[in-house]
Amino acid sequence: MTNQEDFVATVSHELRTPLTSIRGFAQTMLASWDKINDDDKKKFLKIIEDQSNRLICLVENILSVSAGSEGKLVLKKVNIKQAFEPVVKMIAQKYPKHAINIDFNERLPEGMLDIERFQQIITNLLENACKYSPENSSVLISADFADTEGFFIIKIADEGIGISEEDKPKVFEKFSRIDNPLTRSVQGNGLGLYITKQLVNLLNGEIDFKSNNGKGTIFEVKLPLYNPEAQVCSAAY
Ligand SMILES: Nc1ncnc2c1ncn2[C@@H]1O[C@H](COP(=O)(O)OP(=O)(O)O)[C@@H](O)[C@H]1O
Ligand SMILES: [Mg+2]
Repeated sequence: MTNQEDFVATVSHELRTPLTSIRGFAQTMLASWDKINDDDKKKFLKIIEDQSNRLICLVENILSVSAGSEGKLVLKKVNIKQAFEPVVKMIAQKYPKHAINIDFNERLPEGMLDIERFQQIITNLLENACKYSPENSSVLISADFADTEGFFIIKIADEGIGISEEDKPKVFEKFSRIDNPLTRSVQGNGLGLYITKQLVNLLNGEIDFKSNNGKGTIFEVKLPLYNPEAQVCSAAY
């Protein structure tokens, strides 16, 4: 199988599994409405909601790489803090037991950014930080000037299970999940970081991480404040 066929086959599987479950629970409820008690109805609707969310996340991720002006950047003047606030709010709602803190250098100027893709990067990293760390732990998201002139750096630090030296090369590979009890207990498809890396490359940035196995992980994303393509693409807006 070619890489492309392999990708399509796995994505199809990832799409089919939640769809089959959504259809199954909807059919059961329609066929046996009077026989199902309220608690079970609620349980079934919750499964339908969870599986729909899983589908939406997957589709948004896949589209973020390919869609939108055929993979070109859509650059607009963006206040970076304002750009990540809705993402932080959304993830905080999804993971209410984590304390998510923001440390933002107020001197950072507005940037020329592809906001949708920027937010997709932050969403994937922030969600991982919560998913792979225990409840009641802290996640810190920070933004500051990078060492390189004209770049800024976002860091997302968690106090979670970490990533061992041995597993480090695997995390950006597609469909790769690291086998440990926590990963097994949370839902995922191993596509998030693969797509995140592609998005960072598309934005002409760099992504890296440091991790102390068992003591947490810091993902760092360095991005240009003003993209060289800014003039070309923003002209369309
Ligand atoms: N912040 C993190 N701390 C520990 N492990 C992580 C973290 N982020 C990612 N990982 C590991 O890398 C794997 C790949 O991540 P990702 O591509 O986002 O896939 P998914 O979250 O769907 O499993 C995860 O399954 C997990 O094992
Ligand atoms: Mg993920």
